This record gives sequence, C-alpha cells and structure tokens, in this order.
Amino acid sequence: MNGYYAIAIDGPSGAGKSSMAKELAKRFNFIYVDTGAIYRTLGLAALRENIDRKSGEECMKLLPTLEISMGYNDAGEQRMYLNGEDVSGEIRQPEVSVAASDVSSHGDVRKFLLEMQRKMARENNVIMDGRDIGTVVLPDAELKIFLTADDTARADRRLRELEAKGVETSFEDVLKDIRYRDEQDSTRAAAPLKKAEDAVLVDSSELDFNATLDLLCSIVLERLFISEEK
Ligand code: DC
Repeated sequence: MNGYYAIAIDGPSGAGKSSMAKELAKRFNFIYVDTGAIYRTLGLAALRENIDRKSGEECMKLLPTLEISMGYNDAGEQRMYLNGEDVSGEIRQPEVSVAASDVSSHGDVRKFLLEMQRKMARENNVIMDGRDIGTVVLPDAELKIFLTADDTARADRRLRELEAKGVETSFEDVLKDIRYRDEQDSTRAAAPLKKAEDAVLVDSSELDFNATLDLLCSIVLERLFISEEK
C-alpha cells in the first residue's frame, strides 16, 4: 500500500470492464485508467505505418519513434494522444481492436508500456482495467476482480455499443473478433489473460448492467471500506 488504493479489473474483451470501471470510479471517486486504450493507440500507429504487427521486432522499432500519452478532460474522461493528436475516438474502431491485440502479444512491448500504467497507480486512487492488471501491472492491488461473460453475451453487448457509436458491423463479425482476441490474449506467452489467484470472479452473462454494477459496488464496499473498519 503506497497511500493510495488500487482496484484491478481484468477479463476478456466485451465483458463490460470499462463501463463498470467508469461507474465505480465515479461512485468511489477514483481515477479510471483504461489500459487497453494504450495498446489500442500503439495498434493504431502500427496500422497507419503498415508494419507487421505479428513481429515483436517491428513493433519495438516503431515504439520509440512514437509519443503515446494519456490525459483527462474536464469531464474526467481519459483521452489518448498519439504524437500529440487526440486519437480517443479512432482507437475504438473494430480493426484497431484486432491490431491492439496483435501488438500487445509481444513481451518487450508490454515491458515498454508498463511504467506508464504503474505511475498512475503510484499517484492516484485508481481503478484500472485490462488483462494483466491483477497478475502483472498491480499485483499488490487492494482488490482484484475478474469480470467475465459468455462470448455470445459479450458480442451482443459490443455490437450494441458499436451501433450506438454509428460503427457499421454485424453480430458475426463482432463475435469473430472477440473469439480471435480471446484466443490470442489468453494463449500468448507474455502476461496472458488469466484470473489472479486472489481475484474475485464475477460472471455477468445472466446479469444486466445495473445488477452487475450493484454486485461490484457491494464487493468494493465490503473489501475496501467495511472490512477495514472491523
Ligand atoms: O480492453 P481493450 O479491449 O480495449 O483492449 C484491446 C487489446 O489490448 C486487447 O485485445 C488485449 C490488449 N490488452 C492487453 O494485452 N493488456 C491490457 N492490460 C489491456 C489490453
């Protein structure tokens, strides 16, 4: 414990980590750190530069030429910058999701981006979501949650999110992307997606948004606040 609280939320794509983390951050007055956005920003750069994303060497050559940074706007929303350009909207495109999963599979790339994530937790109360937060980035987090759901439930939610943003796609394409990323994110050698031993498992397949949020709030209250007063 460094004087700040850290809550880690890991889980597969589309499990609702970011929408839950955002709400929890508001309720408990924590800073929400979306680590996937960092990998997405690098994925976007790789797409723009048309490099071979499956090559760790090519990704590592590209990384030091880029300036990837993160900031927060007045509404407290995280923004991502690539060489000073705000790319927060563009990194949500489906092809960037796949590119992010590709570039994030390389161990050296992950090491390069680790400090940026840890620094946030040293300086703030954070709720951070990703794939390896509880296992690698913040192994000493006060609370770890592994949030998951069936892949079809996740694809259905992701499709609705994309449609709401005006992105044209189909259920089949979204499910295909989710399965591609599930496979790649959980079988890679470097920091694969897996539940930390001490993480609380939450399966939201049968729960709607509010029920999932209520459950997570009660876990945060119980584990971080009420138990400390005992
Ligand atoms: O959370 P997301 O869907 O925005 O993440 C995009 C990709 O980035 C995901 O497929 C895997 C990778 N990622 C990762 O490897 N480690 C993290 N902590 C967060 C994301």
